[in-house]
Amino acid sequence: MQTYLRGRDFIGDLDFSKEEVETVLDVAFDLKRKRALGEPHPYLRDKVLAMLFFFSSTRTRGSFEAGMAQLGGHAAFIESRTTQIAHGDTPKEIGEIFGRYFDGIAIRHVDWGTGNWYLNEVAKASRVPVLNMQCDIYHPFQCLADLMTIVEKKGRDLRRKRMVVSWAYAASYQKPMSVPQSLVLQMPRFGLDVILAHPPEFKLMPEIMDMAREQARKYGVGFEVMDDMDAAFKDADIIYAKSWGAMVHTPDAEEGARIIKKYESWITDERRMALAKPDAIYMHPLPADRNIEVTDGVMDGPQSVVYDQAENRLHVQKAVMALTM
Ligand code: CP
Repeated sequence: MQTYLRGRDFIGDLDFSKEEVETVLDVAFDLKRKRALGEPHPYLRDKVLAMLFFFSSTRTRGSFEAGMAQLGGHAAFIESRTTQIAHGDTPKEIGEIFGRYFDGIAIRHVDWGTGNWYLNEVAKASRVPVLNMQCDIYHPFQCLADLMTIVEKKGRDLRRKRMVVSWAYAASYQKPMSVPQSLVLQMPRFGLDVILAHPPEFKLMPEIMDMAREQARKYGVGFEVMDDMDAAFKDADIIYAKSWGAMVHTPDAEEGARIIKKYESWITDERRMALAKPDAIYMHPLPADRNIEVTDGVMDGPQSVVYDQAENRLHVQKAVMALTM
């Protein structure tokens, strides 16, 4: 157990070592138990978290805000459009100034090519931890919640379990690729064989792929890439299928939207789920384009664990806040 996390930022999934992530999980399970028993756990009494959002949210906002209150502190919800950022406040000024008001700065900024840079610029100037509520590259708290959920459903020994991280069709907008990128980085460390499936135009960032291959080599697990959703689903233990945009292939959003339309058949439906193991679980971070990305039957069916994933956001975020702030 590696417990010295006080003052640390959590921006990329690999910012915490495997042992540190194990500590986060241990604390998260303890906090989940305490909440179930109604045991108070005010580890952050009088502490305040700034939550700076450049993009909308349901789960992230709700779980960070509830989590801070349950830890005895407070979370300040700040939408970028209500600040003076558009009128000149720089990330350095946000880091310097919010670092003096708050005990932690959580940021969601998913703009392609900007989000991760912004978080790191704030972190450089901040005297308090900067926590990534999702950027263009990583969604590390979602990934921790997913890992906690997988441990709950499949046990701590995940060796030789097949996890499919698949692209899925969605018509709404070009979604960030931060969720699949976080998954391919974090999950190999916990023994899962990862199968990444996507049409050719939906590649992840090359540097993330290199890091994911390195993690797989280091932890002695498989890491395959396929362009066939059916083949990927075969005999899988965990299906994690969601949409993301073609930003690596083209920076042109209109061209990206045209490309997405070619792959309407990439839906998670009952036929595809039947290709996986009978006890396979279905995962999605939400929100989903229902009956486009995934059928209602799968989303609301017995293999779906999406609400446990959403709940576990609360517990892992409380654990990281209690350990870092
Ligand atoms: N999964 C997730 O991050 O949900 P929100 O976008 O609603 O926060």
